[in-house]
Formats: sequence, structure tokens, C-alpha cells
Amino acid sequence: MSILFDKEKQTFTLQTRSTTYQLQIGPLGYLLHLYYGRRAEGCFDYLHLPRDCGFSANPYELQDDRGWSLDTMPQEYSGSNGADFRLSSVEAETERGQIGADLRYLRHQIRPGKYALNGLPAAFDCGGECETLSITLSDAASGLEVELLYGVFEAKDMITRAVRFRNGGDQMIRLHRAASACLDIPFGSWELIHFHGRHTLERQLERRALLNGIQTIASGRGASSHQHNPFVIICEPDATETAGTCYGVMPVYSGNHRTDIELDQSGSVRIVSGINPDGFSWCLAPGQCFETPELLLTYSAEGFHRLSHTFHRFIRENICRHDRELAERPILLNSWEAMYFDFDETKLLNLAREAKDLGVDMLVIDDGWFGHRDDDHSSLGDWTANPRKLPHGLKPLLKQISDLDLKVGLWVEPEMISEDSDLYRAHPDWALTVPGRKPAVGRNQLVLDLSRREVVDWLHETLSGLLRELPLSYVKWDMNRHLTDLYSASLPADRQGELAHRYVLGLYELLERLTEEFPEVLFEGCAGGGGRFDAGMLAYCPQIWCSDNTDPISRLSIQYGTSFGYPVSSMGAHVSTAPNHQTGRTTPLGTRATVAMSGTFGYELDPAKLTADEKREIREQLRRFRALSQLIDSGALYRLTEGGKPPFTAWQFVSPDQGQTLLNIVLTNPEANPRPLHICLRGLDPDVEYVLEDCAFYGCDAAMPAGCTGPITGAALMYAGVTLPPMLGDTPSAQLVWKTKNG
Ligand code: GLA
Repeated sequence: MSILFDKEKQTFTLQTRSTTYQLQIGPLGYLLHLYYGRRAEGCFDYLHLPRDCGFSANPYELQDDRGWSLDTMPQEYSGSNGADFRLSSVEAETERGQIGADLRYLRHQIRPGKYALNGLPAAFDCGGECETLSITLSDAASGLEVELLYGVFEAKDMITRAVRFRNGGDQMIRLHRAASACLDIPFGSWELIHFHGRHTLERQLERRALLNGIQTIASGRGASSHQHNPFVIICEPDATETAGTCYGVMPVYSGNHRTDIELDQSGSVRIVSGINPDGFSWCLAPGQCFETPELLLTYSAEGFHRLSHTFHRFIRENICRHDRELAERPILLNSWEAMYFDFDETKLLNLAREAKDLGVDMLVIDDGWFGHRDDDHSSLGDWTANPRKLPHGLKPLLKQISDLDLKVGLWVEPEMISEDSDLYRAHPDWALTVPGRKPAVGRNQLVLDLSRREVVDWLHETLSGLLRELPLSYVKWDMNRHLTDLYSASLPADRQGELAHRYVLGLYELLERLTEEFPEVLFEGCAGGGGRFDAGMLAYCPQIWCSDNTDPISRLSIQYGTSFGYPVSSMGAHVSTAPNHQTGRTTPLGTRATVAMSGTFGYELDPAKLTADEKREIREQLRRFRALSQLIDSGALYRLTEGGKPPFTAWQFVSPDQGQTLLNIVLTNPEANPRPLHICLRGLDPDVEYVLEDCAFYGCDAAMPAGCTGPITGAALMYAGVTLPPMLGDTPSAQLVWKTKNG
């Protein structure tokens, strides 16, 4: 039993392998949060001593008890317009103008299995690994019922949370804020880590002390965004990769999100996370329900590695669909950086032959194959073959490519519409536009209103038609602008605040239907690179194009930041040409592969432009990746250097049985008269002997000194470390594989 209710103490205790989470039905039915942290037994109400704090009001019924205030006691899910002046989790308003929510315990239920959410991606139970706790609170004035849902994955150290609101009253209730979870951390000193960025520079780690007041990580762009990833970490100031306490908060949501973190007058921290309340509202008629997106919560007392490993495993096993996630992924060659819009049937066939000759598994035909699309000004919405470029249509072309024994993938951008398209000419009202106002254009395109049933149905029919007709193994699902001009012709005036969330629900429904109907097709998410890299999309697309920036040195920090929450198997990463198209930098071909191999691995270049030596090198890369892909996908990732601090970046994979490890190192700032390149490995079995199985240096003239080739114990590799030979050159790199001596 991972969920225990103590009748006498009125506590709920959620136990996972290494953590304990406890709440209590407190005085007057208020639900208090007692503890979340390292696994411990007991009742933790002794921690929260009542104290009379000036200007913190007391519940009416306790008016003589000035020590007890909602403003100072840790709450499990804060209400609003009451005495708790900290962040509220729910803001509600009735027809009669009763604003706020005073939430008191009504009932609870503990049951085996995982609760389900309607129309939203959520973690699933792989068979007896989850228990559900549901606690319903209610607000007497409005009749609003708030059902807090907890999924406890004991063995995986993960707690999922979501909230189901129900209008149990007799008047309309409008929600203005409906957070997925609230978490009070009453004691300690904390820092915030979040992952900010921009197009072509996503998920840059930023760490800062929590300041008094509220700090906000949010997106109002209709997508989880390049700018602020929804995943945040709260950690102790001295937390590192290998030590210290940290909490990870990850919304399973792809739309407008917001996580507020408040450091209050008592030094207590409150985290409230969920749909961004800015511009959001949702009307609930009597009897109606609203469910929030899910949130994943975990805690590590052993630093960021442990936190990341927990998320990596959970996303792979409990968020992504198994058939796709755990299957071996094809190594692909994508036409985008090879040809952009400039291709036709002959060029694509030549590209396919070259791709086959190199030895990749799949050719992906990127943007430009449909309508009359020669640049990004037209045709989004017209998902039929471009008659000028592909006069015989897609089917015969794809057949010819398949006949080469090559899989085929196709790029689509279903959520968008070009004004110059037959779709727009037929349905101009399907684009988001505020009546009387010209909509903003982004990349010359408008956004389809996915809150409308007929739009989702039309997209489903069109895309499933393509998937039925064509021998496709893969779809790249792109989204190249953000939402503006929010107005839906299908929603009444008082429900326009629902549009941004309804858009995401429409998207999820579409993805759900397609991935159910075509389980053999691999969907890769994309939004101008990694502009929608989140656990919601990962439920349908087990891999997401990490960034439009394919420069390996830029990718180091992008993939580094991404790896804190998301597994390597989810990160789309390709070797592209040099000089790089985004930065103009030239790097060794091997360094590009070293970095791309810490992702799904593929190519984004025209092989016809490669020299014979480069082709030979690529064939060797393919051999190496195939030999290592299982270790990379299912091994534990260790980040050995912190965000660009030393002149090199190093990271390591360790197989689940600790029998094999891969060390990658890239010299980002080659130095004159360099200091020794010394690295300590992690995660090995200290008592076992390892031997160097494979070793490659790229972009430099170096070889491994004899002493490092082993046999050498795991303890020596981890505690004494290894010293690599000098690597002189422009951004050189190395890949070293050790295996247990008898493995
Ligand atoms: C986006 C994607 C790219 C490519 C282009 C095509 O920018 O991130 O990979 O598919 O669109 O227009």
C-alpha cells in the first residue's frame, strides 16, 4: 500500500521508494500539507506550530485562536478571497458575484490503479504500479467541488497530480484560475532552476536564488514555447549533480502554462502550477466538470542526476506509448537542410539513393512537397502533392523509395493555414482572427482554430487519408508560429477565455486519434525546433526535434538543459553540414556525430556534397551508433561537467547492469599549453574491472595512453578518474567505451 489514511490523525501518507508525502485534514476541514521529502515515518503535524502572525487573519470559527491562520499554515490546495494571502490555486466566480473559494474537506477515496483524465495526456499504469488518492474539497457558498487527484507510482518515486472541478451548485461558476497542483515547502532555503531560451537556443539552464515575492515561469504563446519550458526545479543552494535536495515539477501540458513560486513572509515557499490563468476562464454550468492537465512531481535527496533519472525512466515507461518508445528508432536523413524547398522528384530520388548508399534507415521529405509551396508564403492546408515538383504524385515516388529498402517519412504542419491556399479560400473563418481586426502573421501564416470540431475532423480525415494511402513510417509534426488573435467563431462571448485550452484539447484529440489508428507510425514533434518540447507532446510523439540549431557546440547547452527533465531518446538530433547553416561555424564531422548521438541520431545534409572520406566516416558513425544505441537510449545519463564551465563538456551513459559505459567529451574552447584533461566517471560498479572496448578521437590527432585501456576497476575510473591525451584542434571530441572485463 503506497497510500495510507490514518483515521485518528486524519493524515494521508503517500509513500514511494525514497519519498514521503503527507497531508492532513486539519481544523475546520482545511486540508494541510505536512511534508514532502525523503522517506520518513511518523505524523508530521508537529512541524507546523500555530503562531500569531500580525495581519494574518483567522477563520471565523477560530476567532479566539489567533495562532491559526490559513496565511501561515501550509495548505494542500489554496483557495482565494479568504485569509490566505499567498498564491491561490483556484479563482472562481459565481453568477451572483461570489468570488473566491473556501475549500474544506468533503470526502476521499483510495483505489488501485491510475485515475484517468478526459482528453488530456497523462501517465499510465503499466500494471499494478500505481494507486490513486482522490480527496474532494468543496466551497459551501458556490457549491464548487474540487477533487484533488494523486497517482502514486511507488517504485518509480513519482507522484502525479491533477484536479477535477465540479459545479455542485445551482448557478453558473466561472473559473479564472484552475491550477493542477499547489505545493508548499514550509522550511529551508531554495533556488529555482528553469530552462529559458529562444528559437534556435532552447532550454538554457538558469539558476537563481528565490527572492521574496513571486517569481513566474510562464508561456502565453499557445504552446509550451522555446522561451520558457514548463519544467522547473526547486533545489537547495548547494545542490549539485550528485548531492543535495531538489524537487522537480513537470506539467504534462503543451499550451499556455504558468508556474508561480512565492517566497512569503515566513520563509515558506509555495509553488502553484498549471494552465496560465492570464486570459483563461472556463464556464461550468451546474453539474459540469473541468479537469486540469496533469503534473509530475518528484523529489531527490541525491542531486540532479537522480532527479533526471527518475523523470527519464518515467517519461519513457509511463508517458510515451510503449510500442513506439521502446522500439528501436530509425536513423533518418532529413531533406530540410539538404535542399530546403528546392527539390523535385528526381532530386528526392537521388537523395534517397545516396541515403541508402550511406546506410541510413529512412528518408524524411520535409517542407515543400505539397500545394504549390516553393517558399514559406503558401499552401499550408493543401496537403496534396505539389504537381510541379512531384508530377506523378507522392505514391509512386514513395514506392520507388521504399523499393530501395528505405523507410519514408513526411513533414506536415497541420495546425496552420496559409492565406494563399485552397483551404483558406474555402474556409477563411477557420483561422484565428478577432472580428474587425487584421490578424498578426507569423512566418506568413495563420493558425487554424483547433477548438472547432469541424476543423479537427477535417484534419483527421486529411491526415488519416495520407497515412492510409502512403507507405509512411514516420510523420514530422511541425508548428511554426504562436497563437495570436484569439477568437473562435464557434464559441459564445462568455466562453472566449476557453479558446487557448480548447485549442490544445483539439490538438490532443487529433494526435490521440491518429496515433491510435496508426500505431506503427512514429510521430516526431516539432515547433520551429524545440518550441513545444514537453511531456504532453511526448505522450504522442516519443521524439521531438530539439532545436532548429544543428551546430554541435550550440547543441551542447541545448541538449544539456533538455536532459534535466527529458530523456535522451526524446531529443531529435542530427548531423548537419559545415559550415553550419545557423551559426556559420565549422566543426569536425566526428564532433557533430558525438553530439547527435546523444539524441535520436540522424542526418540533415546532402550526401552528394560529401567527399569519399566523409562518406566513409559516416558509415563508421552509423556502425558505432547502432552498436551503442541501446546503451544511449536505456542507459543512465551522467552530466559530468556543468554548463560550459571547463573548456570541455563531458557526459556519460551507463547501461542498466553497469556492464558498459560510454564517455563523450567535446572540447569547446581549445587552449594553448592546455591543462590535463581529467575526468572522473560515475555510476559504475566500483568492484568490477573494465576494459576500453572502443575509442575514437575526432578533429585531433590523439590516441588513448596504454594505462587507460584497462583492466581498470570501476572505483579507479570513478574516484581516480582518467586523464585523456591532449586534444589539439578546433572543437575536437572523443568517444570512449568501457566494458566489464568479462562482459
Ligand atoms: C521548422 C522545423 C524545421 C523544418 C522547417 C520547414 O523550422 O523546425 O526542421 O522542418 O520548419 O519549414
